[in-house]
Amino acid sequence: MKATVRPAASGLATHLQNLMGKQPVILIVDDEPANFDVIEILLFKEGYQLHYKDSGAKAIAACDEIAPDLILLDVMMPDLDGIEVCQRLKTNPRSQHIPIITITALSGKEDLARCLDAGADDFISKPINSTELRARVRSMLRIKSQYDQIQSTMKLREEMMQTIVHDLRNPLIGVILGCDTLKSLDVPERAKKRIEQISKTTEQMRFLIDDILTIGRIEANKITLNLTHLDVSDIAKSAIADFETIAAQKQIQLVGSFTKEPATVLVDTHLMRRVITNLIDNAIKFSPTHSSVRVNIEYLPQNPDRDDLVKIEVIDQGAGVSHDQKHVIFEKYEVGSIATGISQIGLGLSFCKMVVETHHGSIYVVNNQPTGSIFTILLDRA
Ligand SMILES: Nc1ncnc2c1ncn2[C@@H]1O[C@H](COP(=O)(O)OP(=O)(O)O)[C@@H](O)[C@H]1O
Ligand SMILES: [Mg+2]
Repeated sequence: MKATVRPAASGLATHLQNLMGKQPVILIVDDEPANFDVIEILLFKEGYQLHYKDSGAKAIAACDEIAPDLILLDVMMPDLDGIEVCQRLKTNPRSQHIPIITITALSGKEDLARCLDAGADDFISKPINSTELRARVRSMLRIKSQYDQIQSTMKLREEMMQTIVHDLRNPLIGVILGCDTLKSLDVPERAKKRIEQISKTTEQMRFLIDDILTIGRIEANKITLNLTHLDVSDIAKSAIADFETIAAQKQIQLVGSFTKEPATVLVDTHLMRRVITNLIDNAIKFSPTHSSVRVNIEYLPQNPDRDDLVKIEVIDQGAGVSHDQKHVIFEKYEVGSIATGISQIGLGLSFCKMVVETHHGSIYVVNNQPTGSIFTILLDRA
């Protein structure tokens, strides 16, 4: 690898360096080494760390390691041309945030449109004008530094939230234990009902806190699954039992249908129960009164002589999820369509997705007919 490391020289580069917290890193991709030399001379005084790759494939392979703040990409290259490289980098979540300036001898508007459509952020024509190159590089690096700042602010916020949520857990457990003690005392019936309400609400808060902490642990790759073989129908049955009162209050018929043979899976019982609970909770929450919610468990044959997947469905007759929201609602804090009078935080489904995917399963939603949604989880049958 030809890499040139130079100290920051110009005031602007130092400014950018301060903004980025490091010397800006630029990856130059061109099949012709002489073109790299030209760019190196033009950017010499700017104080960037320059890396060079002579093919698109090598550039893509080295992106993770080099972690460039900007890519200067030649369009006309043999094998993998710049357009293809650009498309691949911009569709990969790991590299799509890196600004790309395409460099080409082609100057027609069609060529410019092709580069921008492939995801390029800017465009420079050959022969390269030094003033233009430096200005465009600075402009893209400014955008990248703003992106980096937003990312680090978000990370900091996420860490702070995890700390606060974690610290909320202990006092809450104190309240839960206090309620348990009060329940065993000889108190008037009215007080008993209130204690029961407080107890239920604090339990819900504890579940929310635990789900948020689990999300944080999965995101930080610090989750340890406590895996056991079990019949997932047993989890579903006990989850259904937990919702009997809430469903009855809303006059919703909550039923389950299960396989005859055990639907055995290898899962973390506590986490998988929380997933099913979240789905039933949503189904009841987003359904009208007098409708029904069904939890359906069956095997999904993958090929004629083997049943190797277990399918868990939570089916409701509510408003359903619109086509363009079907993926979005599984993202953190995404609440889809606003439903009046209903609390929407947007963490339940992201928790479900993260937990299911940590178990190498999948989760998705499709429409129920004539109305409502079917949330489906697929897990390997153990
Ligand atoms: N069964 C359902 N029917 C209709 N919409 C749903 C259903 N489940 C989830 N949604 C939509 O997805 C959003 C995200 O759900 P979730 O992540 O569980 O968060 P929350 O329950 O806090 O709103 C909900 O706000 C709602 O708009
Ligand atoms: Mg929810």
